[in-house]
Amino acid sequence: DAAEKGGYPDFMLKEIYEQPRVVRDTLAGRLAGGALAIDELGLTLEELNLIDRVYVIACGTSYHAGLVAKNLIEGWARIPCEVEAASEFRYRNPIITTSTLVVAVSQSGETADTLAAIRDARIKGAKVFGITNVVGSPVARESDGVIYTKANKEVAVASTKSFIGQVVSLTLLAMLLGQVKGRLSQAQVRLLFRELGDTVQQIQRILDQQRPAIHDAALACKDASSALFVGRGMGAAISYEGALKLKEVSYLHAEAYAAGEMKHGPIALIEPGFPVIAVATKSPTYDKTVSNLKECEARGASLIVVATEGDKDICAIADHVIYVPAVRDAFSPITATVPLQLLAREVALLRGCDVDQPRNLAKSVTVE
Ligand code: G6P
Repeated sequence: DAAEKGGYPDFMLKEIYEQPRVVRDTLAGRLAGGALAIDELGLTLEELNLIDRVYVIACGTSYHAGLVAKNLIEGWARIPCEVEAASEFRYRNPIITTSTLVVAVSQSGETADTLAAIRDARIKGAKVFGITNVVGSPVARESDGVIYTKANKEVAVASTKSFIGQVVSLTLLAMLLGQVKGRLSQAQVRLLFRELGDTVQQIQRILDQQRPAIHDAALACKDASSALFVGRGMGAAISYEGALKLKEVSYLHAEAYAAGEMKHGPIALIEPGFPVIAVATKSPTYDKTVSNLKECEARGASLIVVATEGDKDICAIADHVIYVPAVRDAFSPITATVPLQLLAREVALLRGCDVDQPRNLAKSVTVE
């Protein structure tokens, strides 16, 4: 067991530290002769060009990777994209035609609801791509094409490195769709690809430098009975993942909200010392998020903010700042998720929880 953990105290930490490698391996060989190469997609460029609607279907953490993908696919390819829990998708009657692309995201490749949704979508004529971590898994076998996330075996029940592999894979898919639809030039794709590659070092820098700040932030959460995660845009998408991670491993109740929605309910929760964890990296909505955070601060919240390196202003309102390198907003989930994973783990350890095997949870859910 100790050997398998490679010197780390638990698998969760080991897997968080593997993330730079996961990004590197997921990108390896994907740019050939200046163009994106995803040969396993199983569709011709003509077929891809006909796609006019995308559904991303998944469960749990994989669903949150889908929230990131929606922003990218709509932003770069201008194709309407919905993200849906597979357990919902399979029991309604979604609008599917032969020009619909269903992207099924599943670490294990064997989640019952995701598989059922794939089967249903194919019967209705959709093209299906699988994004999975397990070679030859049912999701891989039953999809028209597949992208493997190259995370390697993930042991900790709460998913970390697989999420990063999923986000990178979905980013590549969104870039490809953008290129096929003529919305991204080859030069833009090459630039994006280069910046994606830079996230390898950027994640490493977070791992190397931010642990002490994350530990201090965890101390501020450990005795709370609830916590609120907020952000806008990409920051909202990863807030959902941050809240899920915290719930899964620390049993501390957490919920995530789009920051602009706080006034419509969650702000009522805030009293002195209530932990609010915000993703407020530099983005087009940064100022809006900061004004939401000021409202939390005025009510005495204990404010933990994931911010962009160099953002000194945020210190005026935040109790704890965790810095991540500056990246374009599209890539912020790849970096800004990392501190949220580490925070969840630290809080769990401070509360005496088993971070690798949380109670009541299974690594894969193969029955309904
Ligand atoms: C379980 C796991 C989660 C995972 C979810 C979806 O709930 O504990 O970590 O995100 O299933 O699994 P999948 O293998 O389909 O990504």
